[in-house]
Amino acid sequence: MPAPFRPIPAEVLDYYGRSEERSRLRSVRGRLEFERTKELILRFLPRRRTVVYDVGGGPGSYAVWLSRLGHEVHLLDPVPRHLRQARAAARTRGDPLAEVVPGDARDLPFPSASADVVLLLGPLYHLLDRDDRGRALREAYRVLRPGGLLYGVGISRFDSMLEGAWHDFLADRRFVRIVRRDLRTGRHRNYRRFPSFWTTAFFTHPRQLEREVHDAGFVSKGLFSVEGFLWWVPGLSRKWRDVTFRRRLLELLRRTEQEPTLIGVGPHLMCVGAKPRRRRGGRGRRPALAATPRATPAPTPTPGRLGPPPRTSLAGRRTGEHPR
Ligand SMILES: C[S@@+](CC[C@H](N)C(=O)[O-])C[C@H]1O[C@@H](n2cnc3c(N)ncnc32)[C@H](O)[C@@H]1O
Repeated sequence: MPAPFRPIPAEVLDYYGRSEERSRLRSVRGRLEFERTKELILRFLPRRRTVVYDVGGGPGSYAVWLSRLGHEVHLLDPVPRHLRQARAAARTRGDPLAEVVPGDARDLPFPSASADVVLLLGPLYHLLDRDDRGRALREAYRVLRPGGLLYGVGISRFDSMLEGAWHDFLADRRFVRIVRRDLRTGRHRNYRRFPSFWTTAFFTHPRQLEREVHDAGFVSKGLFSVEGFLWWVPGLSRKWRDVTFRRRLLELLRRTEQEPTLIGVGPHLMCVGAKPRRRRGGRGRRPALAATPRATPAPTPTPGRLGPPPRTSLAGRRTGEHPR
């Protein structure tokens, strides 16, 4: 029987119970996050139909997209409102998800070695303690088949400072106190629940995210900045509509997405990890850490819908203001 763990903080559940997470990815910065996250997912995703567990899947933006591409997608989230929204989104798009279940990333209700892909696009930055993040990562490892892929997203240690500068929150001493603590510990707490200062979260140092993924047994296939410097481009809305300009920005972002001196500049970091097909290096030895950072742009595969998905089931921030 697994050891008990602390409940998800009430303020996190309260925040997502009230905020409009569903529309977050529609703002211009949200669209940048969405497009880049999808691009990074597709870069590693096998072309065949896969079984995907979207853990902390929220209102289902990525789950529904992957289901539309022909994958078998199971979504798990602790917030009842998100589960309702995910079911509704799948119904509206006519691509039902295989399963939408309540739960916690640290104790997945899925059988071992049953998935090809696990998305952790949220839970890792709402678990403050390293033990809890480790537990979520080990659960992802358990449910993946050998060779399966983890996409783990964290938020950069420097995010509140940079957002504070951008939105002028640094004029507020209360926010500066929060930022100092974030920089020191990564533990973002908004005890007084100021509406603009977000909710309880962990802001990771880029290499720490990769280290934690590695410590759970994965081989890192790379650490990427999702939005990079594009997050801070003035007038992004207009530039994003200009297809030539958008391409230029994205091409420069791909060139720098793994550059160690820039990787913490954008808000979201993604570490892609593979569960080894068999443990390498003998008993007890960990697989090697980290792919070497690349400076050249990686190819972007074109998303293609797979064949019609069999209808099987498995037993078993907001607006552009302070987006997340
Ligand atoms: C910012 S939202 C991201 C939603 C979606 N994955 C996306 O990227 O659009 C963070 C999500 O993590 C979920 N979450 C927070 N703590 C969690 C935990 N311990 N286990 C599973 N999900 C969790 C929240 O309910 C929320 O849906």
